[in-house]
Amino acid sequence: MNILVIGSGGREHSICWAIKKSPQLDKLYCIPGNAGISDLATCIPEKDLTNENIIKVCKEFKIDLVVIGPEAYLVNGLSDILIAENIRVFGPNKDASILESSKSFTKNLCSKYGIPTAKYETFSNKNYAYEYLEKQNVPIVIKADGLASGKGVIIANSKPEAFKAVDEIFSGKFGESGKIIVIEEYLEGTEASFFAISDGNNVIPFTTAEDYKRVFEKNKGPNTGGMGAYSPAPIVSKELEKKIISKIIIPTLNALKRKKNAYNGFLYVGLMIKNNEPFLIEYNIRMGDPECQVILPRLKTDIVKIFIDTIKNKLTNTKIKWKKQKSMTIVLCSKGYPGKYKKNSRISNLNQINYSKNDYIYHAGTKLFNQEIRTNGGRVLNITSVGDSFSKIRKKIIKIIKKINWKDGFYRKDIGWKVINKK
Ligand code: AMP
Ligand code: GLY
Repeated sequence: MNILVIGSGGREHSICWAIKKSPQLDKLYCIPGNAGISDLATCIPEKDLTNENIIKVCKEFKIDLVVIGPEAYLVNGLSDILIAENIRVFGPNKDASILESSKSFTKNLCSKYGIPTAKYETFSNKNYAYEYLEKQNVPIVIKADGLASGKGVIIANSKPEAFKAVDEIFSGKFGESGKIIVIEEYLEGTEASFFAISDGNNVIPFTTAEDYKRVFEKNKGPNTGGMGAYSPAPIVSKELEKKIISKIIIPTLNALKRKKNAYNGFLYVGLMIKNNEPFLIEYNIRMGDPECQVILPRLKTDIVKIFIDTIKNKLTNTKIKWKKQKSMTIVLCSKGYPGKYKKNSRISNLNQINYSKNDYIYHAGTKLFNQEIRTNGGRVLNITSVGDSFSKIRKKIIKIIKKINWKDGFYRKDIGWKVINKK
C-alpha cells in the first residue's frame, strides 16, 4: 500500500523508518519531511499545508493510508476530512482531539469521572484568577487552556511569578489559547509518559518513556519540546500500568464514547507518579517527540499492521511485541534553542559517520541544500541507540555526537540520569 506520513520532526522520521520495514508498504511519501526522511520517502514540500492540499496529494499519489504526526493537523480536523474522502487515516478526529486542545475540557472530564489529577480551577477573568491565587500556596502551576507548542505551562515558585504568568497569558502571550487559564496544584513525584493505542472500543498499552523537557542539565532552564528520552521507564511496573489503564485511560475513553466521539490513534498520557499512584498531568493525542524515537526502535511488531488493526477496530487481536533491550535518544539542538537560534548552518559529515545497526540518527530540523545537510530548526538531530544498559547506551550516543561536525549545536549529557545513577 502507499502510505503518506504528515510532519517534519524526529518523530516522523522514526515513524517513516518503522513503516519502511513493513512488508505491506509499496511507496512511502511524507509532507513536508526533512533531509533524513528524504532518504526513506518521497518528500512533498507543500508550501501551503491546508487540509484541501493534503487531500489533493493523497489523490495524486493514490495514498491508501495517512499517518498524522503533529497535533495541529489533528486539531484542525485533517482526520475527519480524510475519512469523508474514504482515505484511511491513523489519528483521532477533531472532536476527540479536544483532549489535548483544551486543558480545561480534560480537567473537567477528570473531575466528572473521578480521574486522579491535580486540584484545579479554570478562569476566563483575570480578577477572579488573582483572587483565587491569593489563597493558594506556591509552587503553583498556571496553564494556558489551548495549544502553545509546549510553552503554555508555567510553574510559579512565588506569588509574584504566578500573578505575572496570569497577567501575561490574559494579555495575549499565547493568543486565543490563553482565553481560559487553568490554575492547578503543584504535584511532587516522578514523571512518566505512558503510551496507549485505542481503536475506539479497545485500548492496548504501547510502552513507556521518560522525556527530559528542560533545556539545561540538572533540569534547569525553560521547558523545550524535549531534549532527550529513554524507554522503558522502570517506574511503571505492571501493577502501576493496570492502575493507569483502569483509573485514567478507560474512564476517559468511555466518556468520549458516550459523546459518540470514539478515540482512534495513539494516546500519550503524561503522568506524575506519587506513592505508586498515577495522577494525570495531561493528554496528548499523538506520539511524543522525542519519545517516539526511543519507542519505535524497540518495537518488533509490524507498525503498519498496528495502524490498520486500529482503523478497522480490531485491536483485540493485536499482540504487540517489544525487544527486551532499552533505548535512549539525545537531541542535538541549535545553540539558543528554545529561544532564538540561527538556521541554515551546515552539518558536513553525517554520511561519513560509522554507526552500528543498533544506532539511529533521526533528523528533525534539517533540510537539503545543494546536496548538503543544513539546519532548519531548534531541535536538529536525535541520536538514538538500543542496548542492554542505559549507561552504556548513553556513552555510545555521546561518542557518536562527538564525531558530528557541527559547530552550532549543543545537547544535554545527563539524559537518563535517574536510571543511570540509581544503582
Ligand atoms: P504539560 O504541557 O501539561 O505536560 O506540562 C509541562 C510540564 O510541566 C510537565 O511535563 C511537568 O513537568 C510540569 N507540570 C505540569 N503540570 C504540573 C503539575 N500539576 N505539577 C507539577 N508539575 C507539572
Ligand atoms: N516530548 C513531549 C511531547 O511530545 O509533547
